[in-house]
Amino acid sequence: MTVEIDIAATPDEVAARAAARAAAYLNEQPGEVSLALSGGSTPKRFHAALLALETPPPWNRTHILWSDERALPDGHPDRNTTMAQSTLLDALGLPARQVHVPDAGAADLEAAAAAYADVLTALHGSPPEVDLVILGMGADGHTASLFPGFAVDDAAAVAAVGAPVDTPAPRRLTFTFDTLRRARRVLVLATGEGKAEPLATALAGPGDGPLQRVLHERTNPTWVFLDQAAAGRLEEPR
Ligand code: 6PG
Repeated sequence: MTVEIDIAATPDEVAARAAARAAAYLNEQPGEVSLALSGGSTPKRFHAALLALETPPPWNRTHILWSDERALPDGHPDRNTTMAQSTLLDALGLPARQVHVPDAGAADLEAAAAAYADVLTALHGSPPEVDLVILGMGADGHTASLFPGFAVDDAAAVAAVGAPVDTPAPRRLTFTFDTLRRARRVLVLATGEGKAEPLATALAGPGDGPLQRVLHERTNPTWVFLDQAAAGRLEEPR
């Protein structure tokens, strides 16, 4: 595990610090780079913070990916891509060749997963090493669309998976554990008291929780950006 923890006072500060770190990292990398976005509510602030940066990421050479997507029709308000479109991409106006929307509205989700794995391979070879993956976490310890108790075929870069029925979509596309393990940098965003307990568990030591696995199985750096509420149960508060 190579985890760096950054604790800020408020969710807006978390977003600003995380955005600055992401931009600095992408600017340091030569050539075309990839940034994989995630879903949920926390990234909205992060997207706004990216747009507010004085030194933005190198957008003209950044490819946008999604670490996971909900299997819902194109343009559905609960799609992670729809959220990113309105909170980030509309303002950037990137060329279509740089924005890689997973085909999560497809009837054949397995085929859509394979096609998205091909997108990653075209950018980064096989198995792919994505430059920077943004992740959130759920109160159940899930990350991307890797949910506790749902099988995932880790042999491919992207998988079609199930998710609990009380979530916005019971079928998803997601980067596999292997893709998250190999990513050059992973940036985890977590804010609010509800994340404190699962986060403390995930950080405390290895185990079966999805975020816990990602944190402990990675050897490349993982950056964890928290507010004080989410950091409230860490063993050694900083
Ligand atoms: C999704 C996700 C998911 C999300 C976390 C955090 O599509 O649901 O990508 O992994 O990032 O559940 O969500 P919040 O930011 O809303 O807490």
